[in-house]
Amino acid sequence: MEKIINDVCNIVIDNSYKNFMPSVYEFNNKDIEDLSKININEIYDEVLIISDENVYNHQIDNFINNIKAKIVYEYIVLAGEDSKSLSVYEEIIKYCIKINLSRKSLIIALGGGVVGDLAGFVASTYMRGIDVCQIPTSLLSQVDSSVGGKTGINIGNFKNIIGTFYQPKFTYVNIDALKTLPNKEFISGMAEVIKYSIIYDYDFLDYLINNSDNILNKDNETLHYVVRKCIEIKADIVSKDEKESGLRKILNFGHTFGHGVEKLCKISHGEAVSIGMNMAFKLSLEKGYIDKSYYDKYIKVCEKFNLPLKFNISLYEDEITEEIKVNINKEILEIMKNDKKNSFGKINLILPIGFGKVKIINDIDEDKILNIIKGVNNA
Ligand SMILES: NC(=O)c1ccc[n+]([C@@H]2O[C@H](COP(=O)([O-])OP(=O)(O)OC[C@H]3O[C@@H](n4cnc5c(N)ncnc54)[C@H](O)[C@@H]3O)[C@@H](O)[C@H]2O)c1
Repeated sequence: MEKIINDVCNIVIDNSYKNFMPSVYEFNNKDIEDLSKININEIYDEVLIISDENVYNHQIDNFINNIKAKIVYEYIVLAGEDSKSLSVYEEIIKYCIKINLSRKSLIIALGGGVVGDLAGFVASTYMRGIDVCQIPTSLLSQVDSSVGGKTGINIGNFKNIIGTFYQPKFTYVNIDALKTLPNKEFISGMAEVIKYSIIYDYDFLDYLINNSDNILNKDNETLHYVVRKCIEIKADIVSKDEKESGLRKILNFGHTFGHGVEKLCKISHGEAVSIGMNMAFKLSLEKGYIDKSYYDKYIKVCEKFNLPLKFNISLYEDEITEEIKVNINKEILEIMKNDKKNSFGKINLILPIGFGKVKIINDIDEDKILNIIKGVNNA
């Protein structure tokens, strides 16, 4: 078991759920007098586990066996982004009222980023905020969404438009949970892993390239190293800029570019991010911020993890209208212009400016951005 603790984040990284209960005691400053008598209801009057159907099927037995509790409730949502909605949020709040969840209760978010964001938002707003523990089970949620305290739900197409900054009591990462994660989701999470190497730690990029086989084979020790490294980086960034007034924005590397592709083409978030990072690299290369060898290394790491560099609209022909199809590049640019991370009407782009270093740049011409989009359109 390892811990990463700073002024903002409390994170435990382990290979099972075994140390979850001792962590509950520790982060509530309560001594364990007798391990055999450990009981969560000594600390919280009630516990509500929020999860989704897939995670519930694969992880709940293992998790429940490790928490000693008399009063545990469960609320299971459908898997997928649609559960981050006002209606699901309202149903959960009604359920919290029904079971008399109180200010002395605990919500446990057991699942990927969807469950984490939703349950975190419930916990931060129910009775003006009750304790929440994040237990991330997807790669993306372990390396990213469960750390840093962002919660949120969507309204229509507007992602995370309602949300809060609300730090969990602690985040408990069980690397072993990744064993039941579908491969497609694992690869999608790898895009975020690669992101960390480019924004913060160039040596880590070499590590990912040199250890790709072990990572893809989900070798425990390698995965542990990878997840811990990403969490260390995220926790460090968040501790320096909790509310995203500056530095934290670099975590959006690849996301602004990738946003339009993700919205218009039915691809995973990770695939959109790897295409978005490619766009950022191409622009940086064109502007002379980086040299070709660095860009080639980026291409290499994506190839190792089977992540795309270009989008191909013909694959999604049935899904989008003729009008959007014809103007796809401009449509992607429009979505970028509406990104909620922009300010003062300017597109904020995070661009690589050197090995393991990025910078926020907001004075790039729209025409130049459009050209970059055309360059990754495989049509
Ligand atoms: N709060 C933040 O800082 C932050 C950061 C990045 C992303 N996000 C949010 O995270 C969400 C995406 O997260 P995600 O990629 O984890 O998606 P997700 O929660 O939908 O999980 C992906 C899929 O994997 C399944 N799954 C998860 N863990 C599993 C396991 N161990 N075994 C079997 N199946 C498992 C889920 O049921 C789901 O079908 C988005 O809503 C995004 O907005 C939030």
